[in-house]
Amino acid sequence: MLNDILSIKNLAREEIEKAESLKEIQDLKVKYLGKKGILTGKIKSLGSIPQEDRREYGRILNEAKIYIEDLLGKYEETFNTAELNKILQTQRIDVTVPGCYIPIGRLHPTTQVLDEIIKIFTSLGFNVEEGPEIELDFYNFEALNMPKNHPARDMQDTFYISDDVVLRTHTSSVQVRVMQNNVPPLRVIAPGKVYRCDADVTHIPMFHQLEGFMVDKNITMSDLKGVLEVFIHMVFGVDTKLRFRPSFFPFTEPSAEIDISCVICKGAGCNVCKNTGWLEILGAGMINPRVFEMAGYDPEEYTGFAFGMGIERVAMLKYGIDDIRLFYENDKRFLEQF
Ligand code: PHE
Repeated sequence: MLNDILSIKNLAREEIEKAESLKEIQDLKVKYLGKKGILTGKIKSLGSIPQEDRREYGRILNEAKIYIEDLLGKYEETFNTAELNKILQTQRIDVTVPGCYIPIGRLHPTTQVLDEIIKIFTSLGFNVEEGPEIELDFYNFEALNMPKNHPARDMQDTFYISDDVVLRTHTSSVQVRVMQNNVPPLRVIAPGKVYRCDADVTHIPMFHQLEGFMVDKNITMSDLKGVLEVFIHMVFGVDTKLRFRPSFFPFTEPSAEIDISCVICKGAGCNVCKNTGWLEILGAGMINPRVFEMAGYDPEEYTGFAFGMGIERVAMLKYGIDDIRLFYENDKRFLEQF
């Protein structure tokens, strides 16, 4: 029996020292000290030992048990530490590694310019209104003093959906819509998409316009000049000069085209302004009494001004872009510059 215990102890030691993993140590624990373990078996069999020897055997068995337990515990700890170190090594977080680049999108230059323009006019007390892009011939033409077969309709190459329905060719279509539903005083801007069957370096079939109009008693051309001057100075700088050139629109009388001093050469003459020193930027005028009649307003009581501009055109002048098609080609190299 004594030899038995000694050889169990030695065998256990040999096996524990040879173990190469935590798993092996855990298996050895079961093998020697588990419920059905070798040493446990010996302890259970103490009962069959004669009374006088039992005490001594018990002591030796207990010593062996403690010895194996300690040894197992020591190895267990070693393997645990090794395992932990391995995890710490392989899964180490290097806080000095540069972070991942998360690409951030940006607003389209058209949107940026439109937002800026809207901000300027709302700060002047204008309200934003919208109208439909698929529009009745009535609001796009008739109500703006362009009856069917009126030659001025040829100024705009219209996409017709049916005899009475068009893709709006300008945001002026919003004027009568708003007037019909509101009473003056009105200070309104109407931004949005417009459509014309036209395409070259300065024209595309879909582009953006912003309409502005003001209606009240005693509105005059000088109100128009004042508002436009503030607007132009805010977008292009206070040194920018304005020039009103007589023009014609069926829905305004008198009408004007407004030029600004060339943003590139400051008026000296360059290829952008074709050596004139001026750039055309918007159309405007005093609202034609015929339009007020169409809206149900008394033209004797009210006067007003209206203007309309192309947003891409403003963006092109602001940033010196020479081809309008760049706005809709979605070339990131172009878009990322704004
Ligand atoms: N609607 C005109 C155009 O598209 C611009 C304009 C608006 C002119 C308002 C005068 C008054 O060319």
